[in-house]
Parts: sequence; C-alpha cells; structure tokens
Amino acid sequence: MPAYSEKVMDHFKNPRNVGEIPDADGIGHIGNPVCGDIMELYIKVKDNVLTDVKFKTFGCGAAIATSSMITELVKGKTLDEALKISNRAVVEALDGLPPAKLHCSVLAEDALKGAIDDYLKKSTGKGLPGFKPHEEHPPK
Ligand code: FES
Repeated sequence: MPAYSEKVMDHFKNPRNVGEIPDADGIGHIGNPVCGDIMELYIKVKDNVLTDVKFKTFGCGAAIATSSMITELVKGKTLDEALKISNRAVVEALDGLPPAKLHCSVLAEDALKGAIDDYLKKSTGKGLPGFKPHEEHPPK
C-alpha cells in the first residue's frame, strides 16, 4: 500500500472548497479516460483575480487531495499567477505523492486550466492559448 503524507491525508479527509459555484464565471470539466475519475472546478473572477474556487471530484483520494490543494493555492491569485501553478507545485505543497498516483495531480492542473479556458472563451471569445487536456494523464 502506498504511503501518503499527512497533508495528503488531511486534504483527503477534510477537503477545502468543496462544492459548486452556481454563477461561476468558468467551469473546468476534466475526466481521466484511464481510471474514469472526473473533476469539476468552478471559478469566480473579478479584475483578473480568482476570487473564489470550488471543486467536485468523483475520484481517488489523491485526486481529491490535489484538487483541494490547488483551490487553496490559486484562490486570490491573478489568472497569470494561477496558470504558473503546475501539478508538480501541487504535489510539492502536499509533501509528495506515491509515483503511481502522480497522474492524479495532472487532473487538478487540467481542471483549473479548463476553468480558465472556459472563462476566457466566455469573456473574450478566445480560450487559453495552447490548452488541451492531457488525454492519458501521464506523469510529468
Ligand atoms: Fe484516477 Fe487518481 S486514480 S485520478
């Protein structure tokens, strides 16, 4: 059985920012075709700042912990700052993940980018340049 850090267990058992934002400015909906897990991430944006972020994850413990952590890391950040937060930064903030679970953190990064892509499409007509969800979610 893989060993999870205390932070991973904490975010798995007490995930932060769970739920939906009914009047969200952007929604990221990402599924992992390999394991079938699904993540939805909702954002509110004001003056280019992420004022609120919530998520719903139907997936494994690592996916729940990484989505919880990414909401904490990006709340209050500008869109540009949030886009610089990679899945590796999320894993580091959680004190690591077992190698076999690294792919789960890619789901969190993609869900955030998907929500920002959706927001940009709605507000400017153009999505996030180069955004394409990873199809297989390989570790990176
Ligand atoms: Fe599917 Fe973790 S096993 S995201």
